[in-house]
Amino acid sequence: MKDVDVRRLSPDDWDEYNFPRPEVHDFDRVVDAAISRRGFLGGSLAFGSGAAVFGTSMLKGSTALADAHGTRFPFTPIAAQTDGTVHVPEGYTWDVVVRWGDPMFSDAAGAFDPEAGVSVEMSDRVFGENTDGMELFNVDGREILVVNSEYANRETNLPHTEEGTPGSLDDVRILQNMQGVSVMELADGDNGWGVVVDSPYNRRITHNSPMTFDGPAAGHELLQTAADPASMNSLGTMNNCGSGRTPWGTYLTCEENFNGYFGNTTGSHDGLSETHRAGFARYGVGTDGWGYDYHLWDERFDVSVNPNEPHRVGYIVEIDPADPDSTPVKHTALGRFKHENAAYAIANDGRFVVYMGDDERGEYMYKWVSRDPYVEGGDTSTLMVEGTLYAAVFNDDQSGEWMPLLPETTGMTLPEIAIFTRMAGSAVNATTMDRPEWVAVNSTAPEAYCCLTNNSRRGLINDDGTVRTNAGGEPMVANAPNPRDVNRYGQIVRWRPAGGDHGASRFTWDLYVMVGNPTVHGGVYGGSANMNAGNLFNSPDGMQIDRNGTVWIQTDGSDDNEGDFAGMGNNQMLAGDPVTGEIVRFLTGPTGCEVTGLTWSSDFRTMFVGIQHPGAPFPDGEGVLPRSSIVAVRREDGGLVG
Ligand code: FEO
Ligand code: CA
Ligand code: CA
Repeated sequence: MKDVDVRRLSPDDWDEYNFPRPEVHDFDRVVDAAISRRGFLGGSLAFGSGAAVFGTSMLKGSTALADAHGTRFPFTPIAAQTDGTVHVPEGYTWDVVVRWGDPMFSDAAGAFDPEAGVSVEMSDRVFGENTDGMELFNVDGREILVVNSEYANRETNLPHTEEGTPGSLDDVRILQNMQGVSVMELADGDNGWGVVVDSPYNRRITHNSPMTFDGPAAGHELLQTAADPASMNSLGTMNNCGSGRTPWGTYLTCEENFNGYFGNTTGSHDGLSETHRAGFARYGVGTDGWGYDYHLWDERFDVSVNPNEPHRVGYIVEIDPADPDSTPVKHTALGRFKHENAAYAIANDGRFVVYMGDDERGEYMYKWVSRDPYVEGGDTSTLMVEGTLYAAVFNDDQSGEWMPLLPETTGMTLPEIAIFTRMAGSAVNATTMDRPEWVAVNSTAPEAYCCLTNNSRRGLINDDGTVRTNAGGEPMVANAPNPRDVNRYGQIVRWRPAGGDHGASRFTWDLYVMVGNPTVHGGVYGGSANMNAGNLFNSPDGMQIDRNGTVWIQTDGSDDNEGDFAGMGNNQMLAGDPVTGEIVRFLTGPTGCEVTGLTWSSDFRTMFVGIQHPGAPFPDGEGVLPRSSIVAVRREDGGLVG
């Protein structure tokens, strides 16, 4: 990275910055060879060709939003924008639902100071910072929104400190409390959607909230701490990135870059066991605490004292939004890695399937399949406890296979597979991917998609002549679903399970879009045929597919609007047609933001969109700290938006 202000990096980028692999000497090398060698651009087979590959059966149900212009989109796409606010198409409106620091309880009214932020006393009584994945649940007729707060901007939350460096345990508590999960009742009133302050459903879940473990790692010695010798209860959930939901009405929060919260006050992991050191190396647990400095003030985060504490995060966590007294559950059976999100499907025989990605360069994609079927209204207690976890292998011939992560395939015990899932993926030769971000399942066709956001290190050559590797030492050479070296733009891979059954272990795949910039580059960096001057974007990240099959794509990429990224403007949200591959721009965010998190009101007349870490003074203007916010997007005619 060049001229990086590290304090402004998102956790994804901060992880890249903090955890460099060996230095390279030819960062700017542009390699078309891998892709041309394989001939992926030789025809219409590989991408932008959903109908060609998958036939026309997936057209079913996909034309509900078609309009007279011959596209499925009932709006006029908007141009790229570079200003400090939100834009939506003509005929649509947006307004702010909730901002970081807004009260969830009446005692926190006025808690947000435009210059100082929020005090430690009120920091778990307000909406958290850096809104990310979210899902809406209708509970007894009430609209309950559950939202992740991924990380804390240290400078923004601690403006009284030197460059955001915590100077006390209170400072650390502010950061801890501004992250996690917010459960809030929303209501649509005279001023639009807003939080129902003091709703009995309102709840904050932070880095210090009690949780329980289940699955193979629950009770295991690698999860034991002095405070929890039985290793059945953890405190808190962290770096909650994307979201998921279950058909039985619970929320899934996904622990992503957890590694960054830990440090080692001895300055070295040398005194730890080989198991710990190997695990920390694979997952990027360093010694300096990424500047959060929790370990200097809160011993739980000092791995020289609590070496197992990092083993207690990195999971899928289930939260019941209908019961504010319920204890969240960490489902270790679904693996420990940098969980981006969780998208479910139901196998033909009723088993519960969850697709997941591990967002780091060269890591893998995973699938969980329950042992027992999901039965509406039935017992769901085993569905994320008993079953099989798989890692994805993508073959060059556009076939693929989910490899089971079992003792006989990995040489690891089930608890080890649950705790060191990345090593299990390596053992079955899972395919190294270009940073799997959100996965989404299309309910109108038997298929699922994953945003592979970018991987600027793929294919790079180290000083010793070896190819850059992932953290497990596997060379990140170009492969079929990740065919570009120095991949700054990203792509979206799509797979269709054998027999249309998400429980199947085999699949076929294509690339829904190869993101690129055809106004700057020819060849592979120009992107696939469904990229054009009117829809330029980079680094697809958030994704939801609505009930009509529209693929909503959110971006977390460069918004410098220059060079490779010329004409792309700010980060944005686009809508994609799963059949034709057409992609159009729907919303743009303020400068510096990431657009992430998408859900709908129960009547589908409001779309809730997350605006994370705006760089511009959004939404309150100059003189007020920039505030991550959720906005409500509607049609002026009150029509459906999803
Ligand atoms: Fe938190 Fe990978 O996005
Ligand atoms: Ca993300
Ligand atoms: Ca990202």
